[in-house]
Amino acid sequence: MKKNKKTKADIRNTPGKGISTFSVHAGEERFRYADSITTPIVQTSTYAFKNTDHIEAYTRHGHAHFEYGRYGNPTEKVAQDRMAIMCGAEDCVLFASGMSAITTTILALVRSQDHIIITDDAYKKTLEFCSSYLQRFGIDCTIVPFGDYDGIEKAIRPNTRFIFSESPTNPYLNIFDLEWLRDIAKRYNLMTLIDATFSTPYNQCPFDYGVDIVLHSATKYLAGHNDILAGVVLGREELVEKIRALHKAMGGVIDPHCSYLLLRGMKTFALRMERQNNTALQVAQLLEDHTRIKQVYYPGLESHPHHDIARAQMSGYGGVVSFDIKGTLKNAKYFLDALKLCYIAPSLGGVETLITHPALVSYYNLTRKERYGLGITDTLVRLAVGIEEPEDIIADIDQALKKSRG
Ligand SMILES: Cc1ncc(COP(=O)(O)O)c(C=O)c1O
Repeated sequence: MKKNKKTKADIRNTPGKGISTFSVHAGEERFRYADSITTPIVQTSTYAFKNTDHIEAYTRHGHAHFEYGRYGNPTEKVAQDRMAIMCGAEDCVLFASGMSAITTTILALVRSQDHIIITDDAYKKTLEFCSSYLQRFGIDCTIVPFGDYDGIEKAIRPNTRFIFSESPTNPYLNIFDLEWLRDIAKRYNLMTLIDATFSTPYNQCPFDYGVDIVLHSATKYLAGHNDILAGVVLGREELVEKIRALHKAMGGVIDPHCSYLLLRGMKTFALRMERQNNTALQVAQLLEDHTRIKQVYYPGLESHPHHDIARAQMSGYGGVVSFDIKGTLKNAKYFLDALKLCYIAPSLGGVETLITHPALVSYYNLTRKERYGLGITDTLVRLAVGIEEPEDIIADIDQALKKSRG
């Protein structure tokens, strides 16, 4: 993986050049408390000062010290620095969830009377926040269909602050053309924000395309074990500082134990990604030829409408494959109920293979017509491969597809 700029964390002399080394070692001192090989969990909500001189050294003279848990914690600090180095960002701030990262970032970057643009297949709660809640504070939001680049340009107003999108998106794994985004942002002097949860820093570096802020739900691949919630915001120091300032007031902080689990998950990040990229590609290729499948959506397949863009801007295509099963809702249910290894569960990016049925889970409250308007068919399923044997995942899907006839 390329390294972009010198980051704040680089100053701590992290050895190594690649993401596999960074994900294990970056951000920590070589020798730690009690010479522990692992980063200690500093389970505290507040920090003591030795005396009043010590307080003033910190408050007036900028001496490094932790003060109160909402403003930072040593375990969190290591996770933050590691993430910045892995992602090639100048600075990083961590949150208690991906949604906390997204909402705090947006609020930190806009003011009343501003306008923002977001693409329509962004994560459902992000869209809800932008289209409903922001309006209350006088911030206008235009939702543009994904892929409608002219529509985005037409939506730009003098008070537009930023364009927010995802790449790849959920559940169709659409890929945003980041070169186009760089050009338009430059032309109109706009900020750009990309939620890169599905691609991860292993497969794509949006900073190479001049993206200002990159966000991740670290709940997914970065933590990787389906056991914590966490969010990440990365970017230039001056922008991240603005977000960090609001974060301290909003309070959606990641706790020390969670920070430790994130650090532990990150150690195997590169290994997991390599495995999940390979397994997902194998599954997608197999499904493409399967008699029970109507359509497969995976950016690594030539049949995907954005395959060329994906090939140009990604080094791997991720662990999520979506597909439409032949038949009706009943056949999709037969398929799901016949699975023996893959779990029926929302989320993605963990070591366990998960399958979700968007019509029954995320879009259950819409009418069939509304759902179809969004492209969420009765027979669409989203598979997020884990790290099990690829042959075992494939065999489970194949036996369940055979039973999908009923
Ligand atoms: C692309 C994307 N962004 C953000 C989120 C929200 O992250 P979290 O669940 O960690 O709050 C999700 C959750 O599924 C997601 O898929």
